[in-house]
Amino acid sequence: MKNNLLCFLGLSVIGIADSCSLEISPSRVVVKFGDPVSVSCVASRPVRVLGWESVIAASHTQNDLSVQWRVDSLTYWIEEPICYGVFFTAPRQCEERLNLVLYNKPDSVSISLVNHSSPVVEGREYQLQCEVQNVAPVQYLVLRWYRGKTEVYNHSFSELSPATPVQVSSTLLIVPNRADDGAQYRCEAQLELGAEGPQPPPTVQSEVLNIAVQCSEDSETVLDCTAEGNPPPVYVWTSSNLQEKADQPVLRAATLSPGVYTCIASNILGKKSKQFVIKHKSKGETSFKLLIHCLANYHLATQEVFSSQYFSFTHS
Ligand SMILES: *[C@@H]1O[C@H](CO)[C@@H](O)[C@H](O)[C@H]1NC(C)=O
Ligand SMILES: *[C@@H]1O[C@H](CO)[C@@H](O)[C@H](O)[C@H]1NC(C)=O
Repeated sequence: MKNNLLCFLGLSVIGIADSCSLEISPSRVVVKFGDPVSVSCVASRPVRVLGWESVIAASHTQNDLSVQWRVDSLTYWIEEPICYGVFFTAPRQCEERLNLVLYNKPDSVSISLVNHSSPVVEGREYQLQCEVQNVAPVQYLVLRWYRGKTEVYNHSFSELSPATPVQVSSTLLIVPNRADDGAQYRCEAQLELGAEGPQPPPTVQSEVLNIAVQCSEDSETVLDCTAEGNPPPVYVWTSSNLQEKADQPVLRAATLSPGVYTCIASNILGKKSKQFVIKHKSKGETSFKLLIHCLANYHLATQEVFSSQYFSFTHS
């Protein structure tokens, strides 16, 4: 019984010292740079002096059990207001620190391909960089990377501590393949400031970065019309896209624009034709030639007028 009582007293003494008889309301505030803020501090027992210690808007009272810390436009980054009380009875002094978060939504978020410009070559490694300007406090920042609508990576900065605005960046490594042609990457900076912060969290998005993928440079696609025959066949290519007369059996797709190409191979014994279609997926690309090169590799459709790939001309 005696032990229990001692224990009880010990706990309550600690309890009083901890609670300090001061209550800050709200206990945590999240303020946008330049916005007003108002917080009150209330004492729960008679007080000699009650006040706010602060670089700006310091205040105190000797009469009331409540004192306000008020700023019309908060623009001071390193601010840690403390409410203090001087009491008639023990504990005679105590203080409570306001949990204050002053934030700045990033001025800009930009995305780029490091040391390179689109198109990229498939199978190689590239770095995408996302740069965030003037964000605070950076420890609440989450940077999300998206490919299309899918979040592919996120980056937190919780290990950093500055309260003032900083510039940060995040890097995403990509090794594009042909399925990435036309992929759209973007990044998004989000300040997750907690329940007291604005909902939804302040968010700034980058522009969309379009990736055009060029097929590996050594790959070479051809429109092959080679026919066997005796006497050897001659070739004629027709297409509204061909500027010059073409009479060779093979055309390099990389030099051609999208369209239909028809080849006729003939000798005195007869003639056969073969049709090729080069498809162009998205119009208005700036990297026209290179894109064609890639598309030629993967979107080349052969519509054979005759079923065999090679024509056979036989001597009768
Ligand atoms: C980008 O280029 C600069 C200068 O040419 C070089 O110093 C830097 O290391 C390059 N960065 C990467 C990731 O290749
Ligand atoms: C970041 O991504 C990981 C794994 O994809 C996920 O578990 C986590 O919830 C994400 N973090 C945030 C803050 O969205």
